[in-house]
Amino acid sequence: MSYLLEVKDIVKDFPGVRALDGVSFGVNTGEIHALVGENGAGKSTLMKILSGVYPDGSYGGQVLVDGGEVRFDGIRAAERAGIAIIHQEFALVRQLSVAENILLGGELHSGGVIRREASLAEAEAALKLVGLEINPEIAVGRLGVGYQQLVEIAKALRKNVRVLILDEPTAALSEDESRNLLAIIKGLAARGVACIYISHRLGEVLELAHRITVLRDGRTVSTEEKTAMTEASIVTRMVGRELSGVFPEKESGTGNDLFEVSGWTAEDPASGMRVEDISFKVRRGEVLGIAGLVGSGRTELAMSLFGAWGPGLAGSVRLDGKELGITSPRDAIAAGLGLVSEDRKKFGLVLPSDITTNVTLASLDKVAARGVIDENAEILAAVSYIRDLKIKTPSPEQRAVNLSGGNQQKVVLSKWLMTAPRVLILDEPTRGIDIGAKFEIYGIIDRLARGGMGIIVISSELPEVLGLAHRILVMRSGRVSGELDGKTATQEKIMTLAACA
Ligand SMILES: Nc1ncnc2c1ncn2[C@@H]1O[C@H](COP(=O)(O)OP(=O)(O)OP(=O)(O)O)[C@@H](O)[C@H]1O
Ligand SMILES: [Mg+2]
Repeated sequence: MSYLLEVKDIVKDFPGVRALDGVSFGVNTGEIHALVGENGAGKSTLMKILSGVYPDGSYGGQVLVDGGEVRFDGIRAAERAGIAIIHQEFALVRQLSVAENILLGGELHSGGVIRREASLAEAEAALKLVGLEINPEIAVGRLGVGYQQLVEIAKALRKNVRVLILDEPTAALSEDESRNLLAIIKGLAARGVACIYISHRLGEVLELAHRITVLRDGRTVSTEEKTAMTEASIVTRMVGRELSGVFPEKESGTGNDLFEVSGWTAEDPASGMRVEDISFKVRRGEVLGIAGLVGSGRTELAMSLFGAWGPGLAGSVRLDGKELGITSPRDAIAAGLGLVSEDRKKFGLVLPSDITTNVTLASLDKVAARGVIDENAEILAAVSYIRDLKIKTPSPEQRAVNLSGGNQQKVVLSKWLMTAPRVLILDEPTRGIDIGAKFEIYGIIDRLARGGMGIIVISSELPEVLGLAHRILVMRSGRVSGELDGKTATQEKIMTLAACA
């Protein structure tokens, strides 16, 4: 019996990089097949071949559907064969409404006129499949990444899929939203849809998948039944050695007050979103965690403090007791703040530029003498971060757009580390980062804190918040709903404060 979808000896080259070097595995009808591997292992590249993004002829090996070889000349051809993909990087059109995005390419017409009522109903039905109750007429760009991801999934479900590929679909989702999505995927599989599921969250993979394929350096390491695997055995296959992931020991004695926010109220001029009456302190050497559900205002708080919303409406922000009066990100950087944004495409990276340019972008003063940029110093800086954060790239001249998702995130992190801020805000710093690299990043956060930096970590992964933070601020509906001591906090305590009252 042939597989519903099978790949055989797939090879894919990019200039200077062999991304795939002989990948083979098959997926059955109704099977959830997980694909795991380190950042840069080749997962997304393989999925782009399957979904027609890299067309016919640009790769070696075979793709088979129902036992017959297929060669897609584009995304439409893959869709006609029943293969749909939810990309790791969002593909929605920010300016269009939710409904327009969902129906894109399949609008309901009658005599050349788009049927608005019917279209909205259709979009609402699709949104229901992912448990989303939002107004389908609002622009997608106004939604947070968590909601955008669900819209993207709703869009794919509307097509007649036989194989649904999900490339890290839960990376941007909260605990609840992830659970909801996993249930949706299980339901689809029970109806015979095959799912290829890519994730760095191994707990999720073990819960969901029937079988697991591990990729390393563009090759298949193994395909096995889930029941034969544990988290440790997956990690060992992924990295080719054993890995003991532990959080760095937290230093208890933190220094004096460094960063103080009091009564901070701000509004996003674009969306009208607000954060209200926020007060907290970060001491020198302290890691403050911020937890909360998607949409609770964590990212918005970070953006507003960083000046992305212009001046605040009320309250004060002080560094070393001095009021900052930040009105733009430029002011924030000059004042000694850094922000690693969750939305790396919008705020973190210049995709067409190379790694060196991206890393040094916010610290040109450090690589320039009398206003002239020293290119050697720039490259040396980039090379040191490539080494420290293990960024997988053929050279510092590689363009950011050509890096894997996780490696892009490491470039964003490098950029802000290089500015050596007094206070560093990290918004979902390990989103899309593989498990080995995660612990490298935790180590870096710990080193920075020990060096006296004040660090704010926003994360939806509660073990990460609990493992890193000395104190945890929980947000709900744009306000602080409580504060917990890092030593005594638990997932339950955080969830209670985070859940809607
Ligand atoms: N368009 C491109 N040009 C050049 N190199 C590329 C391109 N796309 C991917 N690569 C390289 O191919 C390799 C595999 O990348 P891929 O995006 O498939 O990794 P991944 O397994 O999805 O990683 P992650 O977990 O970080 O998302 C990486 O070394 C990456 O830099
Ligand atoms: Mg990827």
